[in-house]
Amino acid sequence: MTTPHIIRTQADLRGQIWEWRGGGETIAFVPTMGALHEGHLSLVRLAKKKASKVVVSIFVNPTQFAPGEDFESYPRTEEADVAKLATAGCDMVYIPRKNSMYNAHHATHIKVGGVAENLETDHRPTFFDGVALVVTKLLNRVAPDIAIFGEKDYQQLATIRRLVADLDMPISIVGAPIARDDEGLALSSRNQYFNPEGLKKARMLNTIMFRCAEAMRSGADIDIATRDASQALLDAGFSSIDYVSVACADSLELVKSGKIDGPKRLLIAAHCEGVRLIDNCAI
Ligand code: PAJ
Repeated sequence: MTTPHIIRTQADLRGQIWEWRGGGETIAFVPTMGALHEGHLSLVRLAKKKASKVVVSIFVNPTQFAPGEDFESYPRTEEADVAKLATAGCDMVYIPRKNSMYNAHHATHIKVGGVAENLETDHRPTFFDGVALVVTKLLNRVAPDIAIFGEKDYQQLATIRRLVADLDMPISIVGAPIARDDEGLALSSRNQYFNPEGLKKARMLNTIMFRCAEAMRSGADIDIATRDASQALLDAGFSSIDYVSVACADSLELVKSGKIDGPKRLLIAAHCEGVRLIDNCAI
């Protein structure tokens, strides 16, 4: 177990990266917003297998939260996060100061089309603009060889792949599988908002999702299977459904009806006890 180096300024970050580069090290980067759990740590462990040095950033990015979302109350647990990272093979934690990411003159925006449209964007219209901007800035600052993102945020992963390819960033983007608890609930920093009763209800999401995927794999029509899954979520006590959708695994083009042919992804966003949950699986 090595205590990771905590870096807060761009100058210190650059100094350490140059030193590592000079020594022939390879660098893997895992961006996060903190409140770390096993899902994040699984990305860090994967990073350690793929490069000699691992950098993790912790930054609760204001530009990806819409007014009324949980930016202010988003859990901030820096000390515990650093302790967890020490167990997972992280070499450096980059924690940029609040005001160093966006100064008063900031006027550049990044909009990814294609994969970033529909699904999340129908419900959080500016979310991927904020993600694309902060990830571009972080990738420019850290300049890693590879960067790792979770399939938990499947559309985010696809958006970042598109962004990095389109802007010629010489970084390989790696997707990591979804880490789940013993009952299949995808780990999320927001799961801590649930009381035990809510947690029980939330776990129905993965049960219903995997059942729906299996039905489509066995020949059920996409339109009927996804409508059944929406109804099952409402019956389980979910207050509203943002989407239960099927999309092509790579292009994320929506497939509304018919039978499954070729690699597809089932993606769900739904509200449970005031918490917005997302999950997805291969079909
Ligand atoms: P955050 O929600 O903290 O997630 C950081 C990374 O951990 C993302 O790549 C996310 O997909 C991954 N992750 C979260 N839960 C996971 C799970 N259960 N299994 C596998 N991977 C999981 O995503 C963000 O932060 C932000 O949008 C960010 C990319 C850092 C930009 O601000």
